[in-house]
Amino acid sequence: MTTQFAVRKVSKHFSKDGEDLVALREVDLDVEEGSFVVLLGRSGCGKSTLLNLLAGLTTATSGAITYQGEKITDVRTQVGYLTQQDTLMPWRDVQRNVEMPRELRGERREVRRAAAGQLIERVGLSGFEKSYPRELSGGMRRRASLARMLSGDPETLLLDEPFSALDAQLRTELQAELLRLWAGSGRTVVFVTHDIEEALLLADRVVVLGPLGRIVLDQEIDLPRPRDPDDMRVAPHFVALHRQLSAALKEGAL
Ligand SMILES: Nc1ncnc2c1ncn2[C@@H]1O[C@H](COP(=O)(O)OP(=O)(O)OP(=O)(O)O)[C@@H](O)[C@H]1O
Ligand SMILES: [Mg+2]
Repeated sequence: MTTQFAVRKVSKHFSKDGEDLVALREVDLDVEEGSFVVLLGRSGCGKSTLLNLLAGLTTATSGAITYQGEKITDVRTQVGYLTQQDTLMPWRDVQRNVEMPRELRGERREVRRAAAGQLIERVGLSGFEKSYPRELSGGMRRRASLARMLSGDPETLLLDEPFSALDAQLRTELQAELLRLWAGSGRTVVFVTHDIEEALLLADRVVVLGPLGRIVLDQEIDLPRPRDPDDMRVAPHFVALHRQLSAALKEGAL
């Protein structure tokens, strides 16, 4: 198994009003190729900062991060990133937002249009192809962003709380869609959430982060797949893992 991301003693400082603010302190993390890793942590513990570093959007203050053995210096097209904030282009409709990664690659219009159409359907936005981001609800924008990321066919997916703005049913549907897309594909997923149940439904491995990105728990999730949310909730092993993650989140807050 090869290592997709290797994070070594990574710290990230920001300067705020002339003061030094530490967001991450000496974080070490390896993400294996093909794995589904969930980063679980409370608000402000540095999850988005860590994803920004993995995506190559920002650089570490100290320490080193590699992707497939190479130092990350810039954004890579093989790594798709669904950021926590909306980054849809307001002047493009849904169709043209979703086509964008393929357009940048120089793909022919008919080909990229067909691919985008399929993705729009998969995220449940058929009929909204011609709508602009401002005409969509928060959850719809989120789904359009997801489709746009998938449209680039990335080998690695970084997702920052992708489903938190969705109603429970849509959330379940898109979780299942993401798992279908990942299973057997060899793709690597790093997924951020604060939701323990979501973490247990999706992950091979859950990494619980405390303040400054300190790793409080690194737990393999050996629940059998496919995982049905209703069955899973009553399984003793699920209940035990839930308790363990919940305790780690509380411990991390200390
Ligand atoms: N650009 C920035 N400038 C200054 N401080 C920042 C910046 N980005 C993040 N921080 C700080 O770094 C810390 C970690 O922020 P981060 O966004 O990584 O947290 P998070 O775990 O993603 O939280 P949430 O769950 O609320 O999204 C916070 O204290 C935040 O204020
Ligand atoms: Mg965040």
